Amino acid sequence: MTDRNSEIQDEPIARFQRLLAEAQTIPSDKLPEPTAFSLGTVDAGGNPSVRIVLLKGVDERGFVFYTNYESRKGRELLASGRAALCFHWQLLEVQVRVEGSVGSVRDEDADAYFASRARGSQIGAWASIQSRPIEHTGDLEARVAQVERRFEGQSVTRPPHWSGFLVIPDRIEFWKGMPSRLHVRDVYLRDGDGWKTQRLYP
Ligand SMILES: Cc1cc2nc3c(=O)[nH]c(=O)nc-3n(C[C@H](O)[C@H](O)[C@H](O)COP(=O)(O)O)c2cc1C
Repeated sequence: MTDRNSEIQDEPIARFQRLLAEAQTIPSDKLPEPTAFSLGTVDAGGNPSVRIVLLKGVDERGFVFYTNYESRKGRELLASGRAALCFHWQLLEVQVRVEGSVGSVRDEDADAYFASRARGSQIGAWASIQSRPIEHTGDLEARVAQVERRFEGQSVTRPPHWSGFLVIPDRIEFWKGMPSRLHVRDVYLRDGDGWKTQRLYP
């Protein structure tokens, strides 16, 4: 529990992992998707956009999620090299904001994660040209049927356009709700091999 006048706790990845673990103990009827976060990207004209994705890994290297590299978000992440993440766990009265540069996960890690997904999701990853307009009603279903035929009797390999992004954080902010809106905001800014900390006015 954050106290207003407590020192900023150790390092931010461990702090994030502890909070996520706490969120994951909340019953699913109260918090169905503890790993869900808002992912902000920006296009070449500086226009931001945001959508929800699921966190699939976090360690000292950064935050991992999976998607279609040719989707709107995928193209924007590749072009700008930057991402913003926002987690909100209402029952903990916690918000975590992450900003950083974007890298890719290793092919073998993406293959392993893809192999762990349900077959329907694997088929969908091939069939969905994510973020593109559907020209005719039934096109998606037809593409699903086509992929099912292609992989009939065999395991579904990972599509080349589907993989994980690694967000390498250079700023992480922990927000903890407090009475009278005097919330605590602890910011960690990457500083060489370590982190510089600041506490912000709420
Ligand atoms: C709870 C939830 C979890 C989602 N998880 C993912 C995900 O992990 N990866 C993904 O590509 N899309 C996920 N989506 C769908 C995205 O929000 C989005 O609709 C899709 O990726 C297309 O976004 P884009 O057109 O901006 O690229 C999720 C949606 C919700 C509501």
